[in-house]
Amino acid sequence: MEIFIDTANIDEIRQVNDWGILDGVTTNPSLVAKEKDKGKDFKTIVKEICEIVQGDVSAEVVAVKYEDILHEARILAKVHKNVVVKIPLLPDGLKAVKTLAKEGIRVNVTLCFSANQALLAAKAGAYIISPFVGRLDDIGQDGVELVEEIRQIYDNYDFKTKILFASVRHADHVKQAALIGADVATCPFKVIEQLYKHPLTDAGLKQFLDDWAKLGQQIK
Ligand code: E4P
Repeated sequence: MEIFIDTANIDEIRQVNDWGILDGVTTNPSLVAKEKDKGKDFKTIVKEICEIVQGDVSAEVVAVKYEDILHEARILAKVHKNVVVKIPLLPDGLKAVKTLAKEGIRVNVTLCFSANQALLAAKAGAYIISPFVGRLDDIGQDGVELVEEIRQIYDNYDFKTKILFASVRHADHVKQAALIGADVATCPFKVIEQLYKHPLTDAGLKQFLDDWAKLGQQIK
């Protein structure tokens, strides 16, 4: 399973990329708006991210009408070969996915909250579908179950659209994504940190180092 970071923060992206486990990045308009340097052009941010990470970088359109979506998508796709254009799951959005797929532009269909939406996105030719698990959990529905359903539907019909487990809230979501066979999980920085953490790892390391210190030896 690929691990993406869900952020537009360059420092976070650099740090996780240095850890050697990063496969890509997802951004969205809210994540971009959260960043300090609000004056920085969106295309410049996307290019900067693409130069740091060797992998797919999702950049979202803000248009909602077919022609306008196409216009923005083509601009974003030209920024770097690794850009995956993110388009919301709307009738005009899926129509645009079909057109863009014919042009070889890869699309991440975002804001997916049902298996039927995911089916339509795959039929339109989406490269990625993004079910928002955490936001369904937030309203008392089962986000993980949605990803299971999409996995089954895509396997039934051999759809190649990648399932990206989005809106990750905690490390257990990442385990669930891997158990289901999601292709990607996109995680906030703090969740990627949690993936490394176990109290027994910390306690075990302390014990090893304390015992070794009593020996007074060095490995050389
Ligand atoms: C996915 O690509 C989205 O950017 C993201 O996962 C949304 O997550 P949120 O529900 O934490 O905003």
